[in-house]
Amino acid sequence: MIHHHIPFLNGNIHCVTKGKGRCIVLLHGFLGSWEIWDYFINVLSKSFKVIAIDLPGHGKSDCFGYAHSMELMADAVHAVLKYFRVKKTVMVGHSMGGYVALAFAKKYPEYITGLCLFHSTAYPDSEEKKKDRNRAIKIVKINPKLFIRPMIKNLFAKNNLKYIQNEVKKATQIALQTPPQGIVAALIGMRDRPSSINLIKDAHFPMMIIIGKKDNVLPYDTLLQQCHVISNKTCLILEYDGHFGMLENPKATSYAIRKFAGKCFTAQ
Ligand code: MLT
Repeated sequence: MIHHHIPFLNGNIHCVTKGKGRCIVLLHGFLGSWEIWDYFINVLSKSFKVIAIDLPGHGKSDCFGYAHSMELMADAVHAVLKYFRVKKTVMVGHSMGGYVALAFAKKYPEYITGLCLFHSTAYPDSEEKKKDRNRAIKIVKINPKLFIRPMIKNLFAKNNLKYIQNEVKKATQIALQTPPQGIVAALIGMRDRPSSINLIKDAHFPMMIIIGKKDNVLPYDTLLQQCHVISNKTCLILEYDGHFGMLENPKATSYAIRKFAGKCFTAQ
């Protein structure tokens, strides 16, 4: 695994790479970092070049102002792809990483060979969710830990918590490293993101949708509904998992993504 610090705007974006050949980009979710994909990087790099990026304000990447829009994050991803001279990629986005992948696909469609929304949605925030974001911003400004610990626990299916305590610990440790500025900037970016429903309706690339039936953040029914609007899709439904399939069910999810990416590149 090689670490890189790539110039972007007035700072740097950190990412790790492993493997050779056709490219898969992995984008973590809110309060995550490349480390969330540890297992995936090792599995996928046997067949592909994997680039796992720390999005702005997360992991070892810098913050770039008061708000990180999904478009700004997509520009950071673009800077990384340009740096490695990647022309085509399968992009996998976990939750907020999925919002970024959709913003990227809108702005830079020529790069996308396939797109996986991993517990993510093309729908914008509801009015209620926007209010939750504003409340969260206030709490983070007072004490980020008060927000982070319960938020991370909520990403796992309740019944899984006792079986995968190490994963819960790992996700919490990663989240606690996120600077308050990065947390607030991402909350604003997610709150203000536009709908990407038209993009997925008319997508020229194959899509994979991974849904956890026990997801407490993005309800199963809503994600299933979005599945119906996509024509060229593969769906993976995780019966017993929540919003963190890569930690709750790494084998099944990495296997499905490897297969999906293989198919995308063959169909190219
Ligand atoms: C995430 O996991 O990235 C976030 O929970 C997404 C969101 O809050 O919409």
